[in-house]
Amino acid sequence: MEGESPPPDDDAEFGVPFPGRVLPRESWTRTRWRDTGGAFDWAAAFGRDGARVVDLGCGNGRFLIGSALARPEVLHLGIDLVQVALDYAAQRANRRGLANVRFVVGDVVAWIFERLAPGSVDEIHIYHPQPYYQEADRGRRLLTPEFLERAWAVLRPSGKLVVQTDNKAYWGYLRRALEKHFERAIHKGPWPDAPQGRTRREIEARRRGLVVWRMQARRRDEPLPIEIALPDFDANRPKYRRRARG
Ligand SMILES: C[S@@+](CC[C@H](N)C(=O)[O-])C[C@H]1O[C@@H](n2cnc3c(N)ncnc32)[C@H](O)[C@@H]1O
Repeated sequence: MEGESPPPDDDAEFGVPFPGRVLPRESWTRTRWRDTGGAFDWAAAFGRDGARVVDLGCGNGRFLIGSALARPEVLHLGIDLVQVALDYAAQRANRRGLANVRFVVGDVVAWIFERLAPGSVDEIHIYHPQPYYQEADRGRRLLTPEFLERAWAVLRPSGKLVVQTDNKAYWGYLRRALEKHFERAIHKGPWPDAPQGRTRREIEARRRGLVVWRMQARRRDEPLPIEIALPDFDANRPKYRRRARG
């Protein structure tokens, strides 16, 4: 066990059980990846190769852990800035005996631009990127045209981008911004693999009565010749706060 952080209080969030179950101690694994910099070496990190899934801003890893349990042959990498969130993620993954997940503390901007090689990833997942409500913070939004272009480059030719948000203005922006590099498919209603929510934020948002918007996008072979604006939208319009249906 990776000992510095406190164990999770229990294995449910907002009453929704975490995927999987805790195994006897002898089956526990180590899923925290001690970053040594440079291009990420999947085979070195996992001891084997396979299809590759990345969760950018993975938080406490709920989606990745569920996906890793359901798809044991697939390699899962979770990146987040917040150490304590990853401590919880890693502890839960360790206790489920997962050998196909790694969690690493880091800035996903650096990872997407410098650490993940072009054409090296099968799926990129981004759940609930922060909308940043203050006008002065709009420049901090993650999903810029440049970021989306690089995500496109990092994906393999048949790669997939999954994006989800509970902020309607961000959703409006993404519907347009993704079009250049991806064939978008809006997913209506909860994901079948996690009807109560794939991520902590999704579960929390739905409990608070917010609508959740979900998209699965297939990488285009060639980008469309269109201009995409910067994500300079107003994220804080009260009229967007409606009762949840999704
Ligand atoms: C609203 S939370 C969503 C967490 C999780 N995806 C979920 O849906 O529950 C946004 C997450 O993105 C992470 N994050 C924001 N900017 C980041 C960055 N530049 N690099 C890494 N993580 C980042 C935050 O630390 C936080 O955990």
